[in-house]
Amino acid sequence: MPDTSRADGPELPEVQMHLHTPGDGGIGIVTQNDVCTPKKAAGFVRHLAIDVSGTRLAGNFRSGQSFGVCPPGTDDKGRPHQQRLYSIASPTRGEDGKGNVLSTTVKRLIDEHWDTHGLFTGLASNYLCDLNVGDEVEVFGPNGKRFLLPVNQDDYNYLFIATGTGIAPFRGMLMDLYEHRGPESAALLMGTPYATELMYHDQFTLLERENKSFTYLTALSRERQKDCEQGLYVQDRLETHREPMTEVLSRPNTLIYICGLVGMEIGIFQQMARMLPEPILSQYLGIDEEVRGDVDSWTRKMLHRQIKPTRRVFVEVY
Ligand code: FAD
Ligand code: A2P
Repeated sequence: MPDTSRADGPELPEVQMHLHTPGDGGIGIVTQNDVCTPKKAAGFVRHLAIDVSGTRLAGNFRSGQSFGVCPPGTDDKGRPHQQRLYSIASPTRGEDGKGNVLSTTVKRLIDEHWDTHGLFTGLASNYLCDLNVGDEVEVFGPNGKRFLLPVNQDDYNYLFIATGTGIAPFRGMLMDLYEHRGPESAALLMGTPYATELMYHDQFTLLERENKSFTYLTALSRERQKDCEQGLYVQDRLETHREPMTEVLSRPNTLIYICGLVGMEIGIFQQMARMLPEPILSQYLGIDEEVRGDVDSWTRKMLHRQIKPTRRVFVEVY
């Protein structure tokens, strides 16, 4: 049955989930593992493609869903490691056009340990980034039934807002959308610290060049951009492009998708509250009277309590 619980939102497609679970994984084969940033970047982000033909994921994933991976080995109590989720970056038809090859965008977690200052390396992200073409990898999923393009995808306008690897699902969704005619309008706001970290930058630049309906705007937080002296967060792009952004958000059929860092959504909602007239804002956010006048002090804790995104807003943050 299609998902009808989003009564005032778009109808979402029916999806498959949990076809493979930890203990009952499918074996995929790595077909590609390439850096997906334009130049020598400060971080390490890779586009990893996995052939899942022969597993139950084959033909059964959609852009916007994620899949699971468990790092090999056991934790300090001798238990298998928990699975980590990775957003599918491929379109629904897969990298191969047949739904047999999915991809993701993995950032190596490398840092100093919060307590010891020793080197801290995330288990699953580094395991995935280390894999070579031809290596086997156990996969689970697919996961997620809410962060999806609607059934009648050409009937909507889209505002996609990403930070970091939050770009992954939007690569797949945009490839889905522009496989045919494409929507009336779609905009992608992409936030990274530096220009060197912009994943799939050439692909989105080309998509914009080839499609009048697509707008690609970057927000670099730690360096200047041509049109801005200071660093920008993605929500600042709503302000620098206030007029076109207000216009697209004013349409009755615009959907907002947000993906990336936990906490990014509240800044976006604050900016929307500052710039949008009430009748438009209420299409996206239900805001309690008591916090309505004090946008600057909104916090993430208020989400889903005093500040409730409507069914035209889709959020996946981690
Ligand atoms: P872990 O070994 O799990 O280490 C991370 C944990 O260690 C953290 O939870 C934190 O508690 C702790 N930690 C973090 N930093 C430090 C530090 N400096 N010192 C001490 N402790 C620390 N990631 C992607 O790269 N690409 C994606 O497309 C993607 N999609 C996702 C989709 C969803 C729906 C979700 C929920 C997550 C997604 N993630 C994605 C995040 C991913 O699941 C992992 O959380 C991430 O890769 C880190 O996993 P890890 O095993 O490498 O790190
Ligand atoms: P910064 O780290 O300079 O504060 P990445 O995951 O590749 O590090 O990119 C995440 C991007 O999102 C960075 O540019 C980061 O900026 C930015 N960022 C951090 N916090 C927020 C937030 N609350 N809202 C929007 N963007 C954020």
